[in-house]
Amino acid sequence: MAVSRHATITGVGSSLPPRLVPNTWFEAKIDTTDEWIRSRTGIEARHFADDGVVTSDLAVDAARIALRTAGVPAEQLDMIVCASVTGDTPFPATAVWVQEKLELSCPAFDVNAACAGFSYGLAAATAFVEAGMADTILLIGAEVFSRILDFTDRQTCVLFGDGAGATVIQANDRPGIEGTVLGADGTAAEILLVPAGGSREPASAQTVAASRHDIWMPNGREVFKRAVTEMAAACREVLEKNGHTPEDVDLLIPHQANARIMVAVAERLGIPLERAVVDVAEVGNTSAASIPIALDRAYRAGRMKEGDLVLFTSFGAGLTWGATAMRWTMPGVAA
Ligand SMILES: CC(C)(COP(=O)(O)OP(=O)(O)OC[C@H]1O[C@@H](n2cnc3c(N)ncnc32)[C@H](O)[C@@H]1OP(=O)(O)O)[C@@H](O)C(=O)NCCC(=O)NCCS
Repeated sequence: MAVSRHATITGVGSSLPPRLVPNTWFEAKIDTTDEWIRSRTGIEARHFADDGVVTSDLAVDAARIALRTAGVPAEQLDMIVCASVTGDTPFPATAVWVQEKLELSCPAFDVNAACAGFSYGLAAATAFVEAGMADTILLIGAEVFSRILDFTDRQTCVLFGDGAGATVIQANDRPGIEGTVLGADGTAAEILLVPAGGSREPASAQTVAASRHDIWMPNGREVFKRAVTEMAAACREVLEKNGHTPEDVDLLIPHQANARIMVAVAERLGIPLERAVVDVAEVGNTSAASIPIALDRAYRAGRMKEGDLVLFTSFGAGLTWGATAMRWTMPGVAA
């Protein structure tokens, strides 16, 4: 569908809590090694929030930087969208806590698509802008995953970190965000989930004792395979729909789950690794926050210039996935 109003990213920011936890920290707790984690995931360390720090705290820090980068006062925001599965509270939405901390009164809601949350949020924000329902949207991905990790489960606890990334999405006269494709497969929901705390298994002493409020991933290998397949396919689809081929891509920014997954996606697409952002080493998998954090860090490292074709792709629990093609419209940062 041809649209006359476009959306683009005009500001980026990120926030990682200061406490950096190296792989060796886990060696004393579980049967694992720094070497195993590095070689299987590319992760060397991750940031964990201190007690008392909540998801909206990190979200607000990232948001303030994104707003400053965009040169947009917070009062100009028409809407706040937050992608998260580790919000401050089951409800209200973390976006509402962010709104309260920024002292605003605009609409605010969360997107729950796990590690694909940024893609789903970006599609929603783009559609709101293109439809003329908003001119300026704050889109955040924010997680405190350390609060839902079972530190006796070596398959999962070494993978995740805490952090937030934020973007300002604004109306533009030429296409920035060209398009997003989204996908989901609920038949595979049981391979990656938090089983309890909802209507299926309400919180009880038993659910807490059995760690059923933490992340469960009974088949990591299957998640790995599906991640590679779906992200590569979504990238091809969004590129084709917008008249591009993988050769046209200046920078691929995949969900930062595991370096091996990202390398496999880039290989499948034929995109050389120099044109991909693999920034998992000191961040870990920050779920919905991973793409905006990687985007902000790539921007500040001077990796994009105006007009570059940037490709985002994500994959997460649900299963859910997505890919976005955009022309970078923000001026580059001074080196
Ligand atoms: C979890 C993951 C890193 C495991 O790597 P893998 O190469 O597939 O390893 P396997 O699952 O086949 O396990 C190999 C062995 O390592 C062991 N292992 C698992 N975690 C370990 C750890 N932290 N330290 C040491 N050994 C570990 C397994 O128990 C298994 O042992 P076994 O052969 O005696 O049974 C990988 O499957 C993965 O990254 N999956 C995707 C996870 C993900 O990104 N989830 C979020 C998506 S948004």
